[in-house]
Amino acid sequence: MTGELPAGPWIFGYGSLMWRPDFPFRERRVGYIRGWKRRFHQGSPDHRGTPAAPGRVVTLLEDTESITWGVAFRLAPEIATGILETLDQREQAGYARLSLPVWAAEEQCLIPAATTWVATPGNDDHLGDATLHQMVRQIRDASGPSGSNEEYVLALDQCLAAMDIVDDHVRTLAREIRRASENSADELGP
Ligand code: BEZ
Repeated sequence: MTGELPAGPWIFGYGSLMWRPDFPFRERRVGYIRGWKRRFHQGSPDHRGTPAAPGRVVTLLEDTESITWGVAFRLAPEIATGILETLDQREQAGYARLSLPVWAAEEQCLIPAATTWVATPGNDDHLGDATLHQMVRQIRDASGPSGSNEEYVLALDQCLAAMDIVDDHVRTLAREIRRASENSADELGP
């Protein structure tokens, strides 16, 4: 069932697109995709880091047991091609387009096909998994033209919290980053 939603084109955002779409849209819907999990496994040498100290940004990993909540945006058809091409540029470091159904509630398909971007396996900037400690350290050390990597993680955590979305991977990382910042502030003294 697809309900009464107007036809797309639709874009599905699960990272910074959620809080900073930077493109005009006609409608915004919270929904989830099935069979994928959000992970900070992609390196960012150009936005939230540098080639020498890449930041960590989210991508999707296939996992039949998981769902990932995000935000779908309906575009005006006459400007959709231009917006998609702009986003191809914005997300160029290792990401490719993918078309996925977006779900609103159990067994209810909201959008049959929305475009999203997933880091391709083996791309040059792929960082993959790491311990929580390594990720926190790498994120706290990274900053690029779009701002600090820490700010990106905390903004994602806040965005999800504001939508009442629980994502344990994001929540745990954000909590540990805050804790590390507090500890280093304590070390500096009053
Ligand atoms: C997003 O914000 O949904 C997004 C994440 C990674 C690449 C492209 C878009």
